[in-house]
Amino acid sequence: MTHRSPYDRLGRDGFDLLTRGFYDAIPGDDILGPMYRRHLANEHGVDPDDPAALAPYMEEARGRLRDFLVQRFGGPTTYSDGRGHPRLRMRHAPFAIDHAAAERWLELMFAALDAMGLEADLYRELRVYFTQTALFMVNR
Ligand code: HEM
Repeated sequence: MTHRSPYDRLGRDGFDLLTRGFYDAIPGDDILGPMYRRHLANEHGVDPDDPAALAPYMEEARGRLRDFLVQRFGGPTTYSDGRGHPRLRMRHAPFAIDHAAAERWLELMFAALDAMGLEADLYRELRVYFTQTALFMVNR
């Protein structure tokens, strides 16, 4: 049997759903909310405490994560076509990521993953990948 990549199994729609579940929880999170809001507000010159002004930029950020995951797991290279080499650790350097932040990131991602009811092998592969990658981002 040939190996089917996570992208073959989930499609862009699957990663869309996953990142939606994750990003829906971001703005209201007490650790990650302020970090994402401040960053996007700075980038786009809007008020970090104005959810309506931030919403379209949160949606763009969600799209970046979706496109990155699609590419990482065997789909089209839309992410790098637009953003270049991922260099994830470098791109995360401006954010103060301690173990509490990484753990929270994983909690939100696992909640989104759990809601998808994936087959056990696929679920495990994604959980291991997210765990390793989140720990790799710790920079404080
Ligand atoms: C460990 C905790 C993490 C924190 C606190 C964190 C925080 C952030 C923040 C604040 C942004 C900026 C939002 C944006 O403009 O896109 C971002 C971007 C991003 N993050 Fe994370 N992140 C974490 C882990 C991860 C992990 C594990 C992955 C991959 C599986 C990831 C992938 C990305 C990607 C692809 C972007 C967009 C990069 C770009 O093209 O600019 N992050 N992250």
